[in-house]
Amino acid sequence: MKKKVLGVSFGKKNSNCDVMVKHALMKCEAEGCEVAFIRADDLDVKNCTGCIACTIGIMAGFGRGYCTMHDDFDILDECIMQSDALVIACPAYETNVTGRYKTICDRIGPSHDISFRKVAYEERKAAGKPKEELPDERAFKKRSAALIAIGGAMTENWIAMTLPSMFEFTFSLGIDVVDTVEYYGAMAYENVVGNQKMMDRMTKVGEHILESLNAETEEERIRWRGDEEGMCPVCHTRLLQVSHDAKSVDCVVCGSHGTFSIEDGKLCVHYTQEEMDRSRLRWGGKLEHSTEIKTKAAPRGTIKNLKELKQPYIDFVRPPFEPDPNANGNIK
Ligand SMILES: Cc1cc2nc3c(=O)[nH]c(=O)nc-3n(C[C@H](O)[C@H](O)[C@H](O)COP(=O)(O)O)c2cc1C
Repeated sequence: MKKKVLGVSFGKKNSNCDVMVKHALMKCEAEGCEVAFIRADDLDVKNCTGCIACTIGIMAGFGRGYCTMHDDFDILDECIMQSDALVIACPAYETNVTGRYKTICDRIGPSHDISFRKVAYEERKAAGKPKEELPDERAFKKRSAALIAIGGAMTENWIAMTLPSMFEFTFSLGIDVVDTVEYYGAMAYENVVGNQKMMDRMTKVGEHILESLNAETEEERIRWRGDEEGMCPVCHTRLLQVSHDAKSVDCVVCGSHGTFSIEDGKLCVHYTQEEMDRSRLRWGGKLEHSTEIKTKAAPRGTIKNLKELKQPYIDFVRPPFEPDPNANGNIK
């Protein structure tokens, strides 16, 4: 059966993200893959309301990890479930991912976390539940992905948080990112089609996805193929958070914790194997997270006088400020 590659663009129609994703898809299609392309702005996906019915449902044994709302997210979800690999591109908006990107990540969110889904799947299967009551087993398929962050500004730090945030699309489902590209200065070209070096890099993205799909071992499938090793040996990004005592660092993307030193004038970060295995990209870290939610989240009814304590805040209702008629604002 043909391997399926899904391309998702969060950019404007036929602009940089669309072209870059499609170029990588063309390479995959030419080598025998079945490909699909989705432009996220063509989908009507509502924001997560925070009800957490998806997560509570799957933990309590009745839900299958789905949202109570049904909208175009279901189209994307079905395509992800069918895919063997993904190529995702997102523009930098205010140095970070677009609002729709975040909306879609929240909808993928904890409901699709393979540690929640897998535990529920195994428990229900052992209890003899029918297939219709089990989480979608396609969630556990091994998948690889390439992430592409694009910024118009000429200064690289204007896209600093885009690629790190893009991992939110992949980590819940345990999708292995094998390549990343940060393309800044995009506005120096009318369209990326005029930037041959970047177009060639997109051919490489396609080749890297193909290599991963055709790998004969798991080690080769997940092998890192990006241009730089990065600071983090698990996710290969370089966004670190310094601890309060300034003695250690956390990888913001994957949560690996380490210490640092300066060697030959270079910042070096040291991670133990145990800490790397606690990364949220790995099963150990995922299970730690889902277990702490399951065992430590306070159940309903633990604060006996909750209604009384909340009442002053429920009663505290204040409207927005009246528009200032003397100001040159936007409300007419
Ligand atoms: C609301 C908004 C905010 C933006 N913020 C940034 C930014 O912080 N950094 C940057 O490099 N480019 C920024 N840009 C430029 C876009 O990243 C750039 O135009 C990109 O090419 C858009 O992707 P597309 O061509 O696929 O639509 C911004 C654009 C918009 C519309």
